[in-house]
Amino acid sequence: MNSQPEPRILFSREEIEAAVKRLAAEIRQDYLGKCPVLVGILKGSFMFMADLVRLLDLPLEVEFVRLSSYGGGTESSGKVRVLQGLASPIKGRDVLVIEDIVDTGLTTRFLLDYLRRKKPATTKLCALTDKPSRRQTPVVIDYLGFTVPNKFIVGYGIDWNEKFRNLPDICILE
Ligand code: IMP
Ligand code: MG
Repeated sequence: MNSQPEPRILFSREEIEAAVKRLAAEIRQDYLGKCPVLVGILKGSFMFMADLVRLLDLPLEVEFVRLSSYGGGTESSGKVRVLQGLASPIKGRDVLVIEDIVDTGLTTRFLLDYLRRKKPATTKLCALTDKPSRRQTPVVIDYLGFTVPNKFIVGYGIDWNEKFRNLPDICILE
């Protein structure tokens, strides 16, 4: 396994914890009196979702969708497909999408279009990380954890070839 790239910490678990707390406070404030549906994009958002919802003192529901984006390498194909769609209707609901990383923006753009066809009352986006240097389509991020440089990142749910999701810190792979 000596060809395996080495992860180097970019944001520590303590910095992540502080960011998730800040995001939860912002989201809670904006959704007071509502019951949002949080839609996580699998698999990358699973850890972020688990930490975030525990800090959200609100009635809410959790859903996941599974999309195909990266075939396995580090470049987005730009072709997105729904592998597993929403299990319950979101018509008239306040939907908050939970993403691990917005890179080219193509995956997020696709998902927001897919969700809006189901006529939710509102759709907003919460992203743990944003790599704005690679954007190919404009995406509004309503709640953002971290802006990251144009490097490949892993950890805290984010993978490289399905590996490194279990790292507790957000790392750069080099
Ligand atoms: P986009 O469609 O290019 O915005 O890519 C979004 C998806 O690509 C994310 O949800 C990730 O799964 C994956 N991705 C993009 N950049 C990275 C990265 O630096 N590390 C790991 N996965 C990434
Ligand atoms: Mg991925």
